[in-house]
Amino acid sequence: MARPNANSNGNIETEIPKVKISKQSIKEGLLIFKYVKPYMGKFIGGLIFIALSSATTMAFPYLLKKLIDSAHGVNLGALKAGPGTIALVMMGLLTLQMVISFMRVYLFTSVGEHALADMRKEIYRRMIMMPMDFFAQRRVGELSSRISSDVSQIQDAVTTVLAELLRGFLTLLIGMGLIFYISPRLTLLMLSVIPVIVIIAVIFSKRIRKVSRNAQDKLADSGTIVQETLQGISNVKAFSNEWYEINRYTKSINDVVKMAVKNGQFRGFFVSFLLFSVFGAIVLVVWYGAGMMQQGLLSFGDLTAFVVYTAFVGGTMAGFADLYSQLQKTLGATQRVRELLKEETENVAVAEVELDEKFRLHGAVNMEHIAFSYPSRREISVLKDVSIQARPGEQIAIVGPSGAGKSTLVSILLRFYEPLNGKLLFDGKDAADIPLSHLRKQMALVPQDVLLFGGSIKENIAYGRPHATQEEIEAAAKKANAHDFIKSFPEGYETVVGERGIKLSGGQRQRIAIARAILKDPVILILDEATSSLDSESESLVQDALNNLMKNRTSFVIAHRLSTIRNADKIVVLEHGVVRESGTHKELMAVDGLYKSLNALQFEGV
Ligand SMILES: Nc1ncnc2c1ncn2[C@@H]1O[C@H](COP(=O)(O)OP(=O)(O)O)[C@@H](O)[C@H]1O
Ligand SMILES: [Mg+2]
Repeated sequence: MARPNANSNGNIETEIPKVKISKQSIKEGLLIFKYVKPYMGKFIGGLIFIALSSATTMAFPYLLKKLIDSAHGVNLGALKAGPGTIALVMMGLLTLQMVISFMRVYLFTSVGEHALADMRKEIYRRMIMMPMDFFAQRRVGELSSRISSDVSQIQDAVTTVLAELLRGFLTLLIGMGLIFYISPRLTLLMLSVIPVIVIIAVIFSKRIRKVSRNAQDKLADSGTIVQETLQGISNVKAFSNEWYEINRYTKSINDVVKMAVKNGQFRGFFVSFLLFSVFGAIVLVVWYGAGMMQQGLLSFGDLTAFVVYTAFVGGTMAGFADLYSQLQKTLGATQRVRELLKEETENVAVAEVELDEKFRLHGAVNMEHIAFSYPSRREISVLKDVSIQARPGEQIAIVGPSGAGKSTLVSILLRFYEPLNGKLLFDGKDAADIPLSHLRKQMALVPQDVLLFGGSIKENIAYGRPHATQEEIEAAAKKANAHDFIKSFPEGYETVVGERGIKLSGGQRQRIAIARAILKDPVILILDEATSSLDSESESLVQDALNNLMKNRTSFVIAHRLSTIRNADKIVVLEHGVVRESGTHKELMAVDGLYKSLNALQFEGV
């Protein structure tokens, strides 16, 4: 189960689920190798260096034994060498170990980073090409954690888990072989003690991890309280609820302390258990070994090497438990990444497209009996039967109460969603016959809430046409009534906006969005309540700019203030997903309908 979890930044992140290790999940996990494949040479090289590194590590205690025994004058068998020679061999081995360790770390890092960069790029590319309802059904935090934490988990698997597994197996194999070779009797004694200790330790540490995760969750909870109250500090103060928040935070922190202390108790038990049992085991082995030494069955060097190898073997066994849970997490991560990669993307171009003349639009738009409901809420039909005709260059106003389906209609026009029923035609051609990228290239949307990307004002305007010149950008800004305020900033067009940059007012952002649309020079323009959040002064500036923008193109204007759309060629009144009435202002005012009553409502109050 994925558990929502707030990390230190307060972002909602989902924890990577663990997946049972089965044939199926391992087969799916092998997806990683699609990305490792281009770097296979380096990867195999890394594996070889790991094997070499285990071998040299394991040879070390053996040489230590030889060194010790040479001083005791024990019969050395085949390897007859003085202490000096053995010490030299050991120094040589250490030098070799240095080179090997360097190569192992370097090769695996290189493979891991490259493979995972490729994976991240592909995930991002596919994600950004997904259709709108993909995004409507997921949280942003969840999606970005696919690219960050899931991929990092997989990267760990490539660079460390696999390596550690291989190393662990080799260590176990060589270590067990060597201690058995040194003394089968002592090995049997050791095997009756060490695995028991390891199993108890693993169970213990699982418990500890659970408690410490609870403590972390509690800490995250209190972090959320801090963030919420700071973000909404004006609410807290306006309600003079400081005491309330202080209590809430105090309670939360007390919970943290309780958990953390419990965790400390567990850890204390664990540490004392471990110290006792590890040293107890050493005492046992050495005591028994000492007896064997007295009988001449074992040399001092043998016993030393035996104890060191036993430490290696025991440590490796304990490490496997952690590797197992890492592996489960990795399979969980690959499964989630795979799900994402399996999803069908929208058919948009990956590279920049030049508009193909055969797809050039003239601006006639026909919506015929459009019906639609959102994929996430199929049972509610947002649009029931909507037909609207626009001739090239016409201005069509769409009005109606909020929730009527106006913005949804815009999404259908931009082909963010496919209608369930009815037809959408551009210049009499079925919308489906025009490639998405060519279609959207000729449309522009000015929404109610303008999002500026982190970057300069210039870059933000040029978003509509990335290769525009400075002159073109300034001309667009002038038409949008934005040039003057942009020039008033010390850095002018290079002023950085967005999250890290300066804050612009709603009206200023709106005018930048209009400049963006003017620069794009679309055939079809869509304004979705582009002026509704503005004060009257910036509204008149923006309205001017919009009038400039609407010249010579088909435009769909969703307007909150009816005064702004009086001159529209056609006004469509939408309610509950159907067209109630349509016509010019004059025609609609002549009948006692919804438009007339909406008008009366708006102008009574003013
Ligand atoms: N992404 C969505 N998923 C599900 N329902 C939605 C979505 N967007 C809007 N709706 C619902 O569709 C209806 C029409 O919304 P909308 O087109 O935004 O209305 P309007 O722009 O006229 O105020 C509303 O009931 C709204 O709750
Ligand atoms: Mg809307």
